[in-house]
Amino acid sequence: MGYVGWRPAQEVLVNGLRRLEYRGYDSAGVAVADGKGGLEVHRAAGPLDNLVAVLPDDGVAGTASGSSAALRATTGMGHTRWATHGPPTDRNAHPHTDATGRVAVVHNGIIENFAALRAELEAEGVELTSDTDTEVAAHLLARAFAADPDAGLTAAVRAVVARLQGAFTLVFTHAERPDEIVAARRSSPLVVGVGQGEMFVASDVAAFIDHTRDAVELGQDQIVTLTPEGAVVTDFHGETAKTRPFHVDWDIEAAEKGGHDFFMLKEIEEQPTALADTLRGHLVDGRVVLDEQRLSDQELRDIDKVFVVACGTAYHAGLLAKYAIEHWCRIPVEVEVASEFRYRDPVLDRSTLVVAISQSGETADTLEAVRHAREQKARVLAICNTNGAQIPRESDAVLYTHAGPEVGVAATKTFTAQVIACYLVGLALAQTFGTKYADEVAREYAELESSTDAVARVLEAVVEPTRALARELAQSKAVLFLGRHVGFPVALEGALKLKELAYMHAEGFAAGELKHGPIALIEQGLPVVVVMPSPKGRAILHQKLLSNIREIQARGARTIVVAEEGDETVRPFAEHLIEVPSVSTLIQPLVASVPLQVFAAEVARSRGYDVDKPRNLAKSVTVE
Ligand code: F6R
Repeated sequence: MGYVGWRPAQEVLVNGLRRLEYRGYDSAGVAVADGKGGLEVHRAAGPLDNLVAVLPDDGVAGTASGSSAALRATTGMGHTRWATHGPPTDRNAHPHTDATGRVAVVHNGIIENFAALRAELEAEGVELTSDTDTEVAAHLLARAFAADPDAGLTAAVRAVVARLQGAFTLVFTHAERPDEIVAARRSSPLVVGVGQGEMFVASDVAAFIDHTRDAVELGQDQIVTLTPEGAVVTDFHGETAKTRPFHVDWDIEAAEKGGHDFFMLKEIEEQPTALADTLRGHLVDGRVVLDEQRLSDQELRDIDKVFVVACGTAYHAGLLAKYAIEHWCRIPVEVEVASEFRYRDPVLDRSTLVVAISQSGETADTLEAVRHAREQKARVLAICNTNGAQIPRESDAVLYTHAGPEVGVAATKTFTAQVIACYLVGLALAQTFGTKYADEVAREYAELESSTDAVARVLEAVVEPTRALARELAQSKAVLFLGRHVGFPVALEGALKLKELAYMHAEGFAAGELKHGPIALIEQGLPVVVVMPSPKGRAILHQKLLSNIREIQARGARTIVVAEEGDETVRPFAEHLIEVPSVSTLIQPLVASVPLQVFAAEVARSRGYDVDKPRNLAKSVTVE
């Protein structure tokens, strides 16, 4: 984040960084003018509060390193880090400075040629003081500015970005330009906040929404020069660049915890709304419509194969897309984690549709998979929760999930919203291919709409009993999850939530695979969560899962069964029964996932962990 204006910059930055902490929280730092023609930089490993503890705060001398001038500074920058190069220590925290301490920079992304640049700087006698890829940018800027101070800071930044390779979004300040901040964007997002006599720049509007709701989104390879009077945007060659001004209309309250201890708990509860908002407006005159479509209907009709690419939880949503699209469209669908897809030379052409699913729309692996697909002439459809993010921008068609901001690092409401969005895509394709008539599409759509009530009922009925169960099992060594058919991705997702939040060994398996190996893991007292299909749908699947439960029970497992209300056949085999409403097959993953989210959150809380900020993770994974 950067600020230039009339308010005390340090305060603006700290408050802004608090809102951005979800993007990375292993260290933080700020740099402001020191009132003596230099910069005052404070950095601290750990959460933002560690930084706040070392900042000057009393208007006199503050801490040993702080100064009162810094408190009055009205220009500055700040950063919360998620380490890529070098461990999360004080010295690797941003901002980074040049040798004189007169240039400071913060950075998101990875400068891929930093080793060569480092060697070049070292050969010139520059001493680098951190392990980061970022620091080279500070030294390069100092050098470029010194070479021609009259050309200005923006020209110097332009010279620096011309030397960099990789992904870099950078914010620079120079002590000799106390009323100026210059930022450059390649890959990671950057938004400008336009105030009265003050300007902001940040990765996310949340950082400045308390001060202004007027924003400008920076495009790829653009540079913005901020002074209190305004912003000038140019491209990397210095030409005036086109920008997209917009007004932020979501309420900051929406990003607050709403009375819960953790954002994640609030976000779990928001799922009925997230589903309804995602569906809203997508059936127009009996036809399913996407948000953006830069493809003709004929181009869509020519599609003969679908790949779904995504990472983590979004990949699990993608697995469910396969069931829906193949069933409705009779077209082959392959689902793959994005990081594997792009390195395996998949067979793609202009009749291939690649569906990229990403909450953030920034995930580097997914973005690169999209780019690879497009290079091979495949069509790309994005499902994304972040308006204007890079993945939708680079796609031929977009369907946004309207789940609202998700602050908890673990995806919950964005997962269920992704699943419903996948189903919408399935219906849109079915109508294009003519494999479903309009009345059938409308019926399926109504079915999707019914999911909002069903999820609301799960929330009412299962949250408290599931939390009690989670507390009982919180000290378990491991938990296994089993499912079949659409219950299999639910099992994978349940296990991922528990791993990432409770740091517990958890694995999801296709129940049919049990006897091909995993059953050896079953031992006395091991909790196994089983996602039962409806006894009314494919009875054979239900039967098979009952047999699986018997097999694991016979070997001492504690069975926790998620089953449909009224499924009496399963009751004798369930040590703990979690009942969810009876819904259609494709909606079942939505209702069955909710208790597993609650379970993971409560196990984590019982073990004393920060549910919103699991260790080693970040909300947006913008590096590969
Ligand atoms: C897990 C989780 C991650 C993300 C993954 C992809 O709870 O949140 O596994 O799903 O990093 O992120 P997006 O959807 O932003 O591409």
